[in-house]
Amino acid sequence: MISIVLIGTGNVAHHLFLSFLQAPSVTVRQVVGRNPEKSTPFSHTTKVTTDFNDITVADVYIIAVSDNAIELVSNALGPVSGLVVHTSGTMELSALKKHPHSGVFYPLQSFSKEKSMILKNVPLCLEVKNEADFGILEELALAVSESVFQISSKQRKHLHLAAVFVNNFSNHLFHIGETICKTHELPFELLKPLIEETVCKLHTMQPLEAQTGPAKRNDTQTMQAHLALLENKNHIALYKLLSNSILEVYGKKL
Ligand SMILES: NC(=O)c1ccc[n+]([C@@H]2O[C@H](COP(=O)([O-])OP(=O)(O)OC[C@H]3O[C@@H](n4cnc5c(N)ncnc54)[C@H](OP(=O)(O)O)[C@@H]3O)[C@@H](O)[C@H]2O)c1
Repeated sequence: MISIVLIGTGNVAHHLFLSFLQAPSVTVRQVVGRNPEKSTPFSHTTKVTTDFNDITVADVYIIAVSDNAIELVSNALGPVSGLVVHTSGTMELSALKKHPHSGVFYPLQSFSKEKSMILKNVPLCLEVKNEADFGILEELALAVSESVFQISSKQRKHLHLAAVFVNNFSNHLFHIGETICKTHELPFELLKPLIEETVCKLHTMQPLEAQTGPAKRNDTQTMQAHLALLENKNHIALYKLLSNSILEVYGKKL
């Protein structure tokens, strides 16, 4: 049985908590959060505290707080004998330098409290300062996910960067699509099968092969017509930038 203390009460803490509660080989000993109201949902099954110095003994301490607060929270913890990990895609392992046993437990997914999530298929990217600590972190990860990887800090930063392109930027493009629909009294629902197919194609094709559209075909008249329809200067700049990027990949110039 692996015992854990979860520090943080936000999106990631919420989903990790629910998954660990379901894992027979894991026990959540305590949840630590600075805001008592946000700790309430955890308190029905688990001991909660707002005192970062009143930490229960555990095998692994998971710091799931905002990137900016990781080092602060790590330093606020008293000396602990277990493994202290954070869940960030970008923060250095050195943010936990106070603790002799430290690591990273980075779940590569977009988490919101409002949206349920099954951790089973979420890639968990692990790193440890001392190789001897990898075993316990891997065991903990495998208790909730079938997709577990050892990833270095340097690789993790590039992975996070790639994730920003595929998730954050694509979602922003969905938002722009929705705005254009709303402005012209079209239901965004019309675009959803296309969005789903865009992602579905990736199961059988590489993104490079799956690309379609006017920029790939170098249909200059269509692109000029689209640009003439756009009013928002950011949307115009994005259209040009993305079209040029596609044209460059497929060997043409706008
Ligand atoms: N959300 C994602 O999709 C995702 C995915 C993978 C990894 N991560 C990483 O997971 C970590 C947590 O992200 P999240 O989305 O769960 O964030 P979040 O929902 O914004 O929650 C942040 C948590 O940090 C606490 N916090 C912030 N500043 C603090 C401070 N100075 N002292 C003590 N606690 C503090 C917040 O407390 P209050 O509620 O009191 O402000 C809250 O409990 C981050 O490192 C993030 O990069 C996030």
